[in-house]
Amino acid sequence: MRRAIFPGSFDPLTNGHLDIIKRSLPLFDEIIVAVLNNPDKKPMFSVEERCVLIEEILPQIKNGKCFLTVESFSGLTADFAKQKNASAIVRGIRAVSDYEYELRMALMNRRLEPEIETVFLMAAEEYSYVSSNLMKQVFTLGGRVEGLVPELVEQKMREKLSHEQTRKDTKNV
Ligand code: PNS
Repeated sequence: MRRAIFPGSFDPLTNGHLDIIKRSLPLFDEIIVAVLNNPDKKPMFSVEERCVLIEEILPQIKNGKCFLTVESFSGLTADFAKQKNASAIVRGIRAVSDYEYELRMALMNRRLEPEIETVFLMAAEEYSYVSSNLMKQVFTLGGRVEGLVPELVEQKMREKLSHEQTRKDTKNV
């Protein structure tokens, strides 16, 4: 049984993340999309919202024989991978600029859990500049992000924004 975790913040899930999930499907029997619960960050979506969103989107993927699940976790990625009996941690590399940070994380995770390998997968070129932060920034400032995030994510971002606007308007009355 080859089990991997695909850890990340996923705030929100982008088509770049989906591309990495699709590429990792033939390599593993089970992949756990592991959503980090980081209390230090102020996310656009709560960890619960992110998990539900990903759970709703994953069925759109033809997963073949690979079992895809979503879980949140706190603390160290290496500890979570060990706890789940995973043999690999999947991470996406978009460009050379990602590599240094990813290498440091992979080496640290290997030091923490020598049995668990990090597997780097190259994202499709069309997503090489796509990040959750860039998507949030562009969308919040009125830019278009279609084709770069799943439609459901775009819809939920729109709802978040209008909710936020209503909250601000009510405060200013
Ligand atoms: O989507 P991101 O924000 O690039 O994901 C980064 C993530 C969640 C993989 C990384 O921040 C992480 O592993 N955090 C958990 C804490 C941890 O294990 N830190 C040491 C990493 S060597």
